[in-house]
Amino acid sequence: METKLWNGQNTADLAAAADTLRCGGVVGVPTETVYGLAANALDEDAVRQIFLAKGRPQDNPLIVHISNIESVEKLSSSFTQIGRKLAQAFWPGALTLVLKKSDIVPYIVSAGLETVGIRMPSDPVCRRIIELSGVPIAAPSANSSGKPSPTTAAHVMYDMSGKIDGVVDGGSSKIGVESTVVDVTGKIAVILRPGAVTKEQIGAVIGVENVKNFVETADESFAPPSPGMKYRHYAPKQPLTLYVGAPEDTYTAIMRDVKPGGAVLCFDEYAHCFHTTIPYGKSYDKDEQARRLFSCLRSTENMDADIIFAQCPREFGTGVATVNRLKKSAGGKIINVKTKDIIGVVGVSGSGKTYISRQLAKGHYLINADELYDKMLKEHTDMIREIGSEFPEAMSGGTIDKKVLSAQVFAKPDALCTINKITHKYIVKEILRLCRASSAEKIFIDAPTLFESGLDRYCTEIIGVYAPQETCIARITQRDKISQEQAERRLNNMHNMDFFTAYCDKIIVNE
Ligand code: TXA
Ligand code: MG
Repeated sequence: METKLWNGQNTADLAAAADTLRCGGVVGVPTETVYGLAANALDEDAVRQIFLAKGRPQDNPLIVHISNIESVEKLSSSFTQIGRKLAQAFWPGALTLVLKKSDIVPYIVSAGLETVGIRMPSDPVCRRIIELSGVPIAAPSANSSGKPSPTTAAHVMYDMSGKIDGVVDGGSSKIGVESTVVDVTGKIAVILRPGAVTKEQIGAVIGVENVKNFVETADESFAPPSPGMKYRHYAPKQPLTLYVGAPEDTYTAIMRDVKPGGAVLCFDEYAHCFHTTIPYGKSYDKDEQARRLFSCLRSTENMDADIIFAQCPREFGTGVATVNRLKKSAGGKIINVKTKDIIGVVGVSGSGKTYISRQLAKGHYLINADELYDKMLKEHTDMIREIGSEFPEAMSGGTIDKKVLSAQVFAKPDALCTINKITHKYIVKEILRLCRASSAEKIFIDAPTLFESGLDRYCTEIIGVYAPQETCIARITQRDKISQEQAERRLNNMHNMDFFTAYCDKIIVNE
């Protein structure tokens, strides 16, 4: 069979793909999560072709994709209250709702279950194809069974060429990991597979008490409610070992273990550190890691490497989905290199991060980077000497006058760079020394420049403290007796809240 390649931007091509689906064919289609292998969900013979092309076990059900919410009433005999709420909040989007199926859904789609997974994707090309075809579309991820999911049309072609009717090219998948699968047949939502929509986001809509994770188990005899969970998945050609811990610790451990012939799936910051690397995003950029993961795992296929070492991201937010996929691709070869919890606390000036740090760190060890810095300006001779040679005006009787130094630094942006280069080096070293010397199992670091100094890479968790800009300005002007303009200037010199919201593992609101 010749597999056609259709252009997702071309109307005639979309019509041809939709016609193929209506007539019982199988087509690779783009979605915002990963590419799907689509067929008319109401046509048993067409759906059978999906299982054949994928080599998928018959007991693993398919998700039915729809383009309007009314379709749910046809596919499900009971659209529960909780299901409706989640559909309203997250559709179109990366959430699959498992509901009681209606009689029109063939058992081959549900793999014999009385439930059906339903999703309304947001990808416009996918939506258009569903609308034009006029039928609900059953579609698993478009990879050969066991392989990493495809995030480009080329990936689908690689796995499916000659086996299906065509592939619609809609560009790279925006999200890169599959949808969150949630059982909403009961009173509370049970997450069967973590995905792009996080547990926290679901909790924010229906209440945290109404959502729980289905605990995964490696026990083969156990019957998982989401049959897909029992299979080894996302496996690259080579065996993969996953290292869990703070980025610097996984880097050090891999450095120790890597041998010639080993490739390292690493964060961008470490791309230059090993001989053969597959960088998959900055260590703190979970969305980017999700977007690139499958493509990176696939790229190892043609690589001259016989083993893969992988740095594991922090398991928060979308990181939960990425870590879940990585653990499956490792097939149990997981090395935990974490020795203690090191929790960084960040936030813009005036957000109240110091107050929050003190609350969080009760009963644990807290390092306040600002206080440490003040102490080092008085006592740390090497740092004092180096600052003094760049900013001689700030020297005063063998120590640094912080007021004079600050005035100079905030006046000129290049001076900020110079001072940071000097101080970050010493402060990071000192904080790491304190962490190592401490016997505490949980250490909090209150550090305004956690990311700029690179300290974030030593953290097992990063908490961002949020307060509205006006609140921050009011707090700083009052606390530090400075003007509104000075306060604004100070805030402009730092990462803003959008940065923290995007890159922290958790956000605490402190209004
Ligand atoms: O983002 C996605 O979900 C992608 C795109 C194409 O929509 N699809 C996808 O499908 O990942 P698939 O077949 O690779 O994974 C579907 C998962 C499987 O783990 C399956 O067991 C579970 O959803 N699932 C489907 N229907 C179910 C049901 N009725 N009950 C429990 N789990 C179900
Ligand atoms: Mg899949």
